[in-house]
Amino acid sequence: MAAKTLKIKLIPNGPALVESGSFEIMLTDGTIKKKDGPFSLCRCGQSQKKPFCDGTHNNTGFIG
Ligand code: FES
Repeated sequence: MAAKTLKIKLIPNGPALVESGSFEIMLTDGTIKKKDGPFSLCRCGQSQKKPFCDGTHNNTGFIG
């Protein structure tokens, strides 16, 4: 069976948008967080809700 192709969209100067699907995210302490898309992953490093984007990039001048 072929694996389903999932899409992650990099938003200019913003997060990585995970568009759909069910995910298990292993956090830095090894715990697993289950999350259904869509959701956004922080790329700027300034979110207070890492690994998720909380919109802080809008105030930091993040370019990427
Ligand atoms: S990309 Fe949005 S807070 Fe980091």
